[in-house]
Parts: sequence; C-alpha cells; structure tokens
Amino acid sequence: MEFALLNGSIIKRSEAKVDVEDRGYQFGDGVYEVIRIYNGKMFTVAEHLKRFVKSAEGIGITLPFTTLQLTEMLEELRIKNNLQTGNIYMQVTRGTAPRNHVFPTGDVAPTLVAYTIKVVRPLENLKSGVKAILTEDIRWLRCDIKSLNLLGNLLAKQKASEQGCFEAIQHRGQDVTEGSSSNIFIVKNGTVITHESNHLILKGITKDVILDLCNNNDIPVQERTFSLAELDEAEEVFLSSTTAEVMPVIEINGKKISAGVSGPITQKLQNLFEKEVEKQCGLLVDKVI
Ligand SMILES: Cc1ncc(COP(=O)(O)O)c(C=O)c1O
Repeated sequence: MEFALLNGSIIKRSEAKVDVEDRGYQFGDGVYEVIRIYNGKMFTVAEHLKRFVKSAEGIGITLPFTTLQLTEMLEELRIKNNLQTGNIYMQVTRGTAPRNHVFPTGDVAPTLVAYTIKVVRPLENLKSGVKAILTEDIRWLRCDIKSLNLLGNLLAKQKASEQGCFEAIQHRGQDVTEGSSSNIFIVKNGTVITHESNHLILKGITKDVILDLCNNNDIPVQERTFSLAELDEAEEVFLSSTTAEVMPVIEINGKKISAGVSGPITQKLQNLFEKEVEKQCGLLVDKVI
C-alpha cells in the first residue's frame, strides 16, 4: 500500500484528497519541490527544503512546519513507502477558501501534500544524450519561484515531445534562459557557461552542485547570459535537473552538437556528480561512466 503526507499526517495515498476550492487546484496558487532518493537516502535535501521555504515566502505563504519537521516527515514517508530509488514530490498551496483572486483572510491553513514515486536513473539517456528543440520563453518574470503554475513550461515540453525531443531549450529573444524542466549549460573554449541565477530561471539544485564541482575541480565556469549564437557554436551542451542529473544534449533543432555524442567535459561532470551522490547516499550500482 502506498502512503502520502497530508498536512502533517501520513495516510493511505488513496485517501489523500483536497477540496475543489483548494487554491492550488483552482489557481496554481502554491509552490513545489522534487527531491531525489538514491539508495534510500535523500540527496541535497537541505538545499531543496531551503528553496521550498524561499519559494513559499516569495508568494507570501508561511510553511506550517519547520525545515527539521519537514525532513523528519519526508523520511517517515519514504520509509513507509520503502522507496529506495525515486522522487519525493511535495507541494504547499495557500489552502482552501471561497474562490477569489484576493488572498483569503483569517485562519486559512496552507495545504501541504507529499508522496513518493519510484523512478530509476535514466542511464541510457545519460550515456547516449538527448535531443532538444528551441522555443521562445513565454513564461512570467518570477521563474526563480518554483510555482505550481507550469503552463509555459508544459507547452514548451509538449512541443519538444511532439518533435520526438526530450527537452525544449527556452530563450528570450537572443538570450538562452533554461529548459522547460532543466537548466542549460554550454561549453565554449573549455569553459562551462550557464545562465546566472536570477528571476528569469529556476536556481536549480543540480545546477549549484555542478557549479561547486567545477570550482572544486579546476573546470573553468561562468554564470552569465549566453546567446543563441553561442549555443549554436557550443563545443558541448548539457542540461541538469534532479531527475535528469547531468544530461548530454547531442542535437538541437536537428543539428548535431559535438558530433552527436556526449562530450569530454560533460562526461567528466557526470563522473564527478556520481561521486557526489555516492558521498551523500552510498555506492551506486549502475554508473554512467
Ligand atoms: C524550469 C526548471 N528549471 C530548472 C530545473 C532544475 O532544477 P533542479 O536541479 O533543482 O531539479 C527544473 C526542475 O524541475 C525546472 O523545472
């Protein structure tokens, strides 16, 4: 039997329901996180919960639990569901109230939900790389908030999927921002370049792990805006996310990148990333490199 966390209680997942007037359901008025589990251990959980608090604060929601309480509840949920490899999904909304754009006043409690999903590592894609398309970034100007409102991201991902691609790389005019559910990196003259973490992108937890790995292993790295032209000329391109890890991009809009195979710096970072996972979560059975 699967269990879910609903407002602090672990209950049967089939019984975890919210009201039709929950503001997450009606307005997408909430924020979320996805935390990766390797070998039954949460990877970078502190960083995810810090961002969860920040996203909630960004839209004026005060979480009903401390970070420590959340960590303990998520671990209890993970144990209940015996999750060894997969994700914990969690979201908080502004709660249930008569439908009104204006925030409810009084004692409306936020709704906090979490559940687990079994997901294996995408080893085949990590080895061979994935294809992407380009699409204009039509999203709002607070992409740093991990909001439940994902329509812009969904439309971009659907367009990629319809063209047989894994990801849609978004750009505002000539500036590349991020993927529909990932951060984007290029390698230019041996330097790793990725968009600075501002209001135009999500400050990815995996992105930050990769930046640290570069800095600690003498891989030149820059956080700055790069253009479509730089993307087009890149020696290597890769994307990052909690579930996609360090994922080579080998083709964009039908044009091959680095001869259509994963490049050397991408592979080096995949190796360093796996070592970091092993440091926090124990030895991995299957590896990319
Ligand atoms: C829009 C967007 N950017 C970046 C990321 C990567 O963030 P993280 O590495 O924290 O998963 C995600 C993850 O889902 C995302 O949805």
